[in-house]
Amino acid sequence: MKKLSLLVAAALMVPVAHAHQAGDILVRGGAMAVSPTTDSGDTFNVDSNTQLGLTLSYMITDNWAVELLAATPFSHSVELKGAGEVAKVKHLPPTLMAQYYFGNAQSKVRPYVGAGINYTFFFDEKGRGVLDGADVKADDSWGLAAQAGLDMRINDNWFVNGSIWYMDIDTDVSVNGNHVDKANIDPVGLMVGLGYRF
Ligand code: NI
Repeated sequence: MKKLSLLVAAALMVPVAHAHQAGDILVRGGAMAVSPTTDSGDTFNVDSNTQLGLTLSYMITDNWAVELLAATPFSHSVELKGAGEVAKVKHLPPTLMAQYYFGNAQSKVRPYVGAGINYTFFFDEKGRGVLDGADVKADDSWGLAAQAGLDMRINDNWFVNGSIWYMDIDTDVSVNGNHVDKANIDPVGLMVGLGYRF
């Protein structure tokens, strides 16, 4: 009986490959497509853009983490209803999230959800078409952000990642110092890539 319990204990001690656990740093990189959700009631229509997304998560416990999103600058074409393209804008949307990971440190698949704050700043705004040469400005934006994602373990360090983001991004647009309208960009972001766990 004693022998048997020792065997059982030994079997339980076979090293288990761990997934995310407290103290881990997760780095994810991949393609991130940002699609504004403008509708027919909006003055402006903003097109989609795909860039390199990069996220950094720190696991505070086996289930809770904080994440920072960074990316290469997104570039969008802005259309004014009835006037075609009127501007090109670039932006960076750094976002800080609190995340909850389902499962535990032994799970091969870790779905997660997150909520946080997005700060988006616009730069390199250029007037186009009827606004060619005009001074176009888009104000910085603070807003809420939400996400859902999935990490799938490949081995002890590498994993595959997919995530979907929503960001409340509203920017006041002005031309030659005159306020035109608020652009509700409120994009959905889709990121697919690889992750590495330190
Ligand atoms: Ni909004």
